[in-house]
Amino acid sequence: MSGTSLASSAVAVIGTQWGDEGKGKIIDMLAEKFDVIARACGGANAGHTIVVNGVKHVFRLLPSGCLHAHAEIVLGSGMVIHLPTLLEEIELLKAAGIDIIPRLRISHEAHILFDFHKLIDGANEDDKTKTGKGIGTTRRGIGPAYCDKAARTGIRMERVSEDLRGDLSERAALLKRTHGIDVDIEAELQSVTHAAKLIGSCVTDTVTLLADRRKSDKKVLIEGAQATMLDIDHGTYPYVTSSATTVAGALQGLGLPPQCVSQVIGVAKAYCTRVGSGDFLTEVSGATGDRLRERGGEYGSVTKRPRRCGWLHLPDLKRSAMINGCTCWNITKLDVLDTEEMIFVGVGEYQGKATYKEFSGWKCSTAGMTAFDDLPMEAQKLILFIEQETGIPVRYIGTGQGRGEMIVR
Ligand code: IMP
Repeated sequence: MSGTSLASSAVAVIGTQWGDEGKGKIIDMLAEKFDVIARACGGANAGHTIVVNGVKHVFRLLPSGCLHAHAEIVLGSGMVIHLPTLLEEIELLKAAGIDIIPRLRISHEAHILFDFHKLIDGANEDDKTKTGKGIGTTRRGIGPAYCDKAARTGIRMERVSEDLRGDLSERAALLKRTHGIDVDIEAELQSVTHAAKLIGSCVTDTVTLLADRRKSDKKVLIEGAQATMLDIDHGTYPYVTSSATTVAGALQGLGLPPQCVSQVIGVAKAYCTRVGSGDFLTEVSGATGDRLRERGGEYGSVTKRPRRCGWLHLPDLKRSAMINGCTCWNITKLDVLDTEEMIFVGVGEYQGKATYKEFSGWKCSTAGMTAFDDLPMEAQKLILFIEQETGIPVRYIGTGQGRGEMIVR
């Protein structure tokens, strides 16, 4: 095993906007070339939708690459895991003929996200919404679970087989006093006990496991969750999620060293969407926004909320590329723009408003195209503009939902 291959055995796929860029599809396409597919951070706030043989699969905790029967699946230390959701996903896969348990590895350092975290998230959101300060979280308990982690009051997966009655009772008493929240201790205990039976054997030291796999020349695909502009440090704070969503965050979440990453694929939609509150400089309302939403199927895969829609904003892509060291782009959902008369790309800001470069629309179908040269000239121009402005090659272009509907350059 040479030092070089050990040094560069991982590829990271990172969202560069506000999530929902369609990362699941490139992951699904690349997964068969990798031995390990790893999620690093976040929890069931993520929702990767991928379509295989016309059937839609939505994954929240499991990486979308888990459809490939050969790969080892890692849920990393940076994650907050809601056990009933994980069991549900495992069951769903089983019903589709995929038994994931024998190849599922869950970090003993990952935190358990309890139902009471969801109750706190919901209560916080309700309170803030009254004063117009709601973040618009997915209400999946993410913030409160990371609060516990940072306060060092969280419970990690390494304790999944222990009797947690004492910890949960203490917690329940506190939450009753501080939030007036009733924790159903018995239900929480039951779900942990049930999970321990089914997936207790999957809990392991994934840091050592990943190092071992790398030593034996295995390739690791890092599946980023959420996206750079939702990063707790570098995103549009406070309208962000509670984990580090960048490539650095993924490395921290997995306990991988930086030099192991050979490629960082930055994923961006050919336009832009956002769910929840916060600035969105290139947001468009009215008929154009509605058309993008309908053509792009822009409804939250976790919460079903309609996503806010708008134009691509290059300064955000440049900033994300700077933070993550993107080596190439995957521009997704180009075909959603097929019916647009004019296409706008945000290039800067003047007096609080976006400034745009305008492109003529191509007004014909690019759906399912697999060759760059087949794209209409106007679409090629748009892609080349992104490349030129960011200085990063566009290697993958999504032209539809299905597995093969991708241009690879
Ligand atoms: P939380 O992660 O549930 O706390 O939500 C915080 C913000 O991140 C909200 O605006 C959510 O809509 C957004 N968010 C969290 N996860 C995702 C995702 O996977 N895709 C898109 N937005 C997300």
